[in-house]
Amino acid sequence: MSRIAYVNGRYVPHRDARVHIEDRGYQFADGIYEVVAVKSGAFVDLGPHVERLERSLRELRIAAPMTRAALVTVMEEVIRRNAVQDGIIYVQMTRGVAPRDHAFPTAARTQVVMTAKRGRPHPVRYETDGVKAVTVPDIRWDRCDIKSVSLLPNVLAKQTAREAGAYEAIFVTPEGEITEGSSTNAWIVTRDGDLVTRPISNAILAGITRRTVLEIAREEGLRLVERAFSLAEARAAREMFVTSTTSFVMPVTQLDDSVIANGKPGTIGLKLRQRYIAYMASAEGVDAHPENRS
Ligand code: PDD
Repeated sequence: MSRIAYVNGRYVPHRDARVHIEDRGYQFADGIYEVVAVKSGAFVDLGPHVERLERSLRELRIAAPMTRAALVTVMEEVIRRNAVQDGIIYVQMTRGVAPRDHAFPTAARTQVVMTAKRGRPHPVRYETDGVKAVTVPDIRWDRCDIKSVSLLPNVLAKQTAREAGAYEAIFVTPEGEITEGSSTNAWIVTRDGDLVTRPISNAILAGITRRTVLEIAREEGLRLVERAFSLAEARAAREMFVTSTTSFVMPVTQLDDSVIANGKPGTIGLKLRQRYIAYMASAEGVDAHPENRS
């Protein structure tokens, strides 16, 4: 079956999908995006993803191209046309097409592109062995809370990880604090058993998976502390893991040359991973959430 993309009001074969060369997303990375997981044909945490997308648009003063109801309808249609049961949808919006000039164009229409992709199950070794991560200096700008398509530092970081045979790159500030991963949020469990993740600020993306895992951790009665933590703390931690829409809860068992604890995924991370995967599977169809359409 051929893949179908959505491009500004049209459903087109993926291979024929095109945007204009003066799309500001292409020239200035002047746009935002979301990645939403699909599980058993239903979106996972759709409401929070749509809210974050709308916030990103507001923060960059990009006009919303359609109502929330219309957006959800198109997203559903993209999933349907691609017959995605388990996978992801990618939604991108840019400031528009206009002759190249850094300042906002006066009359540009927000451009909307969506693609959907089936996902493969994670390899079993993620749970038996965990993954390796490397650290890189956090050279990003001061608005990492905006889910902008301007991802060069993240691209370079992930490439560093790839070349080191690692799953993820973890950003570290000049002060030695971990902010987040190149496409994930970072967590540790300290020797004392505290579950620690950095609080929401402009230094990190407010992950939707982070938010749901926080809720699950609360339900589990875990000792939760939202605070910044250092690279030294992570190296000495009992457990480390990263979270995202596509990684779920991913145990990190090696950070650069440091093996975390005994080198095996920890019990808290594994528990949260199982609970998060069960939560995804319990996601109701979007039709069950009329509040997302208002
Ligand atoms: N990345 N931090 C960054 C920098 C991210 O790019 C992401 C998501 C996250 C986790 O957010 P969430 O739990 O909402 O997926 C944290 C997506 C998946 C991506 O760029 O593909």
